[in-house]
Amino acid sequence: MALAGESRHGMWSNKWLFVLAAAGSAVGLGNIWKFPYIAGENGGGAFVLVYLACVFLIGIPIMMSEVLIGRHGRQSPINAVRSLVAKSKASSFWVLIGWMGVLAGFLILSFYAVIAGWALHYGWLMGVGTFQNADGAMAGATFDAFLANPWMLLGYQTLFMVVTVWIVSRGVIKGLETAIRWFMPLLFVLLLVLLGYGITSGGFPEAVDFMFAFNWDALSWDGVLVAMGQAFFTLSLGMGAIMAYGAYLPDDASIPGTVTTIALLDTFVAVAAGLVVFSIVFANDLDPSSGPGLMFVTIPLALGSLPAGEIFGVVFFVLVTFAAITSAISLTEPALAYLVEEYNAKRGRVAISLGVICWILGIGSVLSFNVWADVYVVGSLTIFDFFDYVSQNIMLPLGGLLIVLFAAFVLPRELVRRQIGFDGGVAEILWLLLARVVAPLGVLAVFVYTLYQSFA
Ligand code: TRP
Repeated sequence: MALAGESRHGMWSNKWLFVLAAAGSAVGLGNIWKFPYIAGENGGGAFVLVYLACVFLIGIPIMMSEVLIGRHGRQSPINAVRSLVAKSKASSFWVLIGWMGVLAGFLILSFYAVIAGWALHYGWLMGVGTFQNADGAMAGATFDAFLANPWMLLGYQTLFMVVTVWIVSRGVIKGLETAIRWFMPLLFVLLLVLLGYGITSGGFPEAVDFMFAFNWDALSWDGVLVAMGQAFFTLSLGMGAIMAYGAYLPDDASIPGTVTTIALLDTFVAVAAGLVVFSIVFANDLDPSSGPGLMFVTIPLALGSLPAGEIFGVVFFVLVTFAAITSAISLTEPALAYLVEEYNAKRGRVAISLGVICWILGIGSVLSFNVWADVYVVGSLTIFDFFDYVSQNIMLPLGGLLIVLFAAFVLPRELVRRQIGFDGGVAEILWLLLARVVAPLGVLAVFVYTLYQSFA
């Protein structure tokens, strides 16, 4: 039996494991694969600035809200919100936060596993020397040929899901913590090595210029929406993943301190990955706005023909896969913890059932790249695009908005002060300003724009 004040699912061994676990959730395909290519598509500099503003002004208050709700409840997001609703005599409408999060988690994991599978395949290709002496055209053609093969995509997606389910079924300490203890330090070391490579590749000054020169003309209002969606996605916000992890955080850890560390680590990885990828892009005269294939073309191209490049290449893609795994496990935790609580079910069984549902949903994304490439859910969105768009641009911001409103307006003020450790100083005023005004209005403004655009 868990002690009072502890979660029945287990507790992180100390606050640093929470920081690593949440950073493990945050750092993933969003940082290494997605951030560089959407920054490229949206013109670089100005986009990066808007993204950073979203991370710090909107992301941090929402992440603090998630952690405080989770830690207070010590249960799955659905039940944590439920218990707080009862305590604050609020409407049960707010429990929607938990349910929508569970749904968003399924949608995201379904396509996330497909992309993670690409990284697995590329680890293999690097190892067998496919990219020795490759040029840009060959690297592009290899990627296209891979996407055209549904069986290959399916095989790798299946493999990734099996590993994810196996880890989560082992529980918070034996499964999640063990994976995080190994994968996260390795990830940081390799990223630094690659950054060293990027700096010496010849394209580094141009990469810095591309990411930090504020070229406002290249940024559209759509770009602002994408930047906000990316901030939510990269910090794992808006669906309860961080809330679920917060439920296992010891009481004496500081919420503002841990949350700021997580956001800084995540930002560092995204910026470093961007600099690595764009250094290679400019050193090889590639196109920075080439879309989702960016990482899968640049990295093999750059590493394939180096001495010992195969080894670096294998390690790079293995680490992308690790980063994806530490994110994927967090996507399952809200639903998993809920089902275990509600039905007193065995964690292992629940994990397998959830995995099967995500795997089936993911087949839609697999086919979006080949057999169903012309099947559109709405407009020109394939199943993959649709899941990606709806989760990232609608469900996560909406979830985040509800979470911050719930924490800032509905919860008893005393409870929030005790959880965050405020004493009425400047920090508390800053929190109130960000959580009550800046974050909600920021999300709302972007939303209204989206709606206006879809109907205008
Ligand atoms: N943050 C991860 C990434 O950048 C993805 C992720 C994990 C996620 N858990 C999440 C996104 C929860 C949204 C919500 O790759």
